[in-house]
Amino acid sequence: MNELPIISRPSSAFSEEIKKVRTNLKFSSINDDVKVMAITSSLPGEGKSFTTANLAVAFAQYGEKVILLDCDLRKGRQKKNFNIAVKKSEGLSNLLINKEWKTEYKNYIKKTKIENLSLIPSGSYPPNPSELLASERFDKLLEKLRKEYDVILLDCPPANGLNDTLVIASKTDIVVLITKYKSTSIDLLDKSKKALEAIGAKIAGVIINQVDAKETNYYYGTYYKDKEE
Ligand SMILES: Nc1ncnc2c1ncn2[C@@H]1O[C@H](COP(=O)(O)OP(=O)(O)OP(=O)(O)O)[C@@H](O)[C@H]1O
Ligand SMILES: [Mg+2]
Repeated sequence: MNELPIISRPSSAFSEEIKKVRTNLKFSSINDDVKVMAITSSLPGEGKSFTTANLAVAFAQYGEKVILLDCDLRKGRQKKNFNIAVKKSEGLSNLLINKEWKTEYKNYIKKTKIENLSLIPSGSYPPNPSELLASERFDKLLEKLRKEYDVILLDCPPANGLNDTLVIASKTDIVVLITKYKSTSIDLLDKSKKALEAIGAKIAGVIINQVDAKETNYYYGTYYKDKEE
């Protein structure tokens, strides 16, 4: 399965919708200073990583300097999505336990084949993902990256059941919630929304993912499903 339709099928309905999401997130007047964005969903498999990867490319194509952080320290997959060959020990979890991170953090930033787009893969599976993500070091890393990049996208684990995402969301400017069409209940979505809001996260919007084009009128907004055309 091709995980980057934004490149392979740039004029598909999916790619058009992702570009609209990009514009809404970064360039609407309400979100003037938005740089650090977390993408999450209630449950596993709703399309967080897929959406984040394509959104990152869409920002880069627009000329923004973008870095994607794979914050799913339990089962990160962005390295695979971008087909980057790096050692498992060269990722975010390893960076966050490296005492010399201030001088060495650039070694963990990997170039992708897409101009303007870099990636920090998730790294080795750590025993304490939530603690690493809650660390002051992670705050400081984000502060450094803010000075160097226009857009910082954080691919998160699911919000329901794990503490990791709440910890990450509290450090970001906005959070985008993904929900899989006809799959996740409104109650669960609402639960995630409330949990995020309780820690002060600003939810910029909800993307309904994997809507069947046959059932839906595209002009109702961010509804899409990528399909071979
Ligand atoms: N809009 C879409 N069109 C086609 N395939 C999609 C779409 N969204 C997601 N997928 C596919 O669904 C699968 C799950 O997506 P993804 O890995 O992005 O979910 P996730 O929410 O990040 O899951 P996890 O919680 O396990 O990290 C992937 O194989 C991906 O290719
Ligand atoms: Mg994922």
